[in-house]
Amino acid sequence: MRVVYYSVDQDEAGWIAGLQAALPQAQVTLWHSGCAPADYAVVWKPPQQLLDEQRGLRALFNTGAGVDALLKLHLPAGLPIIRLDDAGMSVQMAEYVCHAVIRHFREFAAYEADMHALKWSFRKPRSRLDFPVGVLGLGVLGQRVARALAQFDFPVHGWSRTAKVLPGITCHAGDAQLDAFLSASRVVVCLLPLTAQTENLLDAQRLARLRPGGYVINVARGAHVVDADLLAHLDSGHLAGATLDVFRVEPLPQSHPFWNHPKITLTPHTSARTLRSESIAQIVAKMAAIERGEAVAGRVDTDQGY
Ligand code: NAP
Ligand code: GLV
Repeated sequence: MRVVYYSVDQDEAGWIAGLQAALPQAQVTLWHSGCAPADYAVVWKPPQQLLDEQRGLRALFNTGAGVDALLKLHLPAGLPIIRLDDAGMSVQMAEYVCHAVIRHFREFAAYEADMHALKWSFRKPRSRLDFPVGVLGLGVLGQRVARALAQFDFPVHGWSRTAKVLPGITCHAGDAQLDAFLSASRVVVCLLPLTAQTENLLDAQRLARLRPGGYVINVARGAHVVDADLLAHLDSGHLAGATLDVFRVEPLPQSHPFWNHPKITLTPHTSARTLRSESIAQIVAKMAAIERGEAVAGRVDTDQGY
């Protein structure tokens, strides 16, 4: 069996060594133009040329959860695309989002500023009932995040494409229930895939539906949020703040107004990192399942775009 690996920004040597160790019978190599035909490709943001040249693939594994970059390419019809299915990401996402929600709810930034000013002062305790959190996307990551938030007794709402019943979460589904979901939420967390249906979802009108003093946490893709509309709602006071991990252009250009905005907390697309050994274990187990003719979780529905 032959496996080719390509990534635009991951540690190639570590991935190839890890895949080779997990697949001792296979030949694992770095993809380069003109290399021998492979059975499987393991990739992150590959060039079109890889797909054009590797016409005999049995499956293509994406070393991330989101496939928006991959689906911009011209993919051979019927080629199974398998994305990472958790592989250690959901716990990271739950940590990140709970940290952002709690930091905002408990006003820890203000306490830090007071401590720097040698100021011993208390703020009035807030009720978590006044901070319902809405999670856009109830997939692998969104469900874990929603559950983690519910553990802290925040009222939690969720929104997905297809209807769900999840203990402790008020579930909404489809475009018809989006307004009700937004109006019920004060904090909104975006964990949607980026598709034609979800691009620019958080625009001026939808952000206006959040409860006053709203808060936005975007950990999905930058293009879910209309930057200028977010800034306008922060500046008008309708929104109290935002924590943003993802941006339309990454790295975020130094001239972008998000950098210096007093109500925005930024991180450099790090909320849930691809963990190499967990990911390799998952990918290799799925290759074995495919070889046995079994279905695997995480297969992308290219018509839906995720
Ligand atoms: P997933 O399991 O595919 O879940 C996607 C969720 O979004 C599902 O609940 C799906 O609804 C819902 N959805 C999709 N299209 C929708 C629509 N038009 N209307 C309403 N709901 C819709 O994906 P995941 O593994 O949780 O990952 C989610 C995203 O997180 C990824 O696509 C990626 O962009 C992002 N991500 C970011 C980082 C980071 O470090 N910042 C790391 C990993 C992933 P159904 O349940 O009905 O299908
Ligand atoms: C990271 O953003 C991913 O999609 O895995």
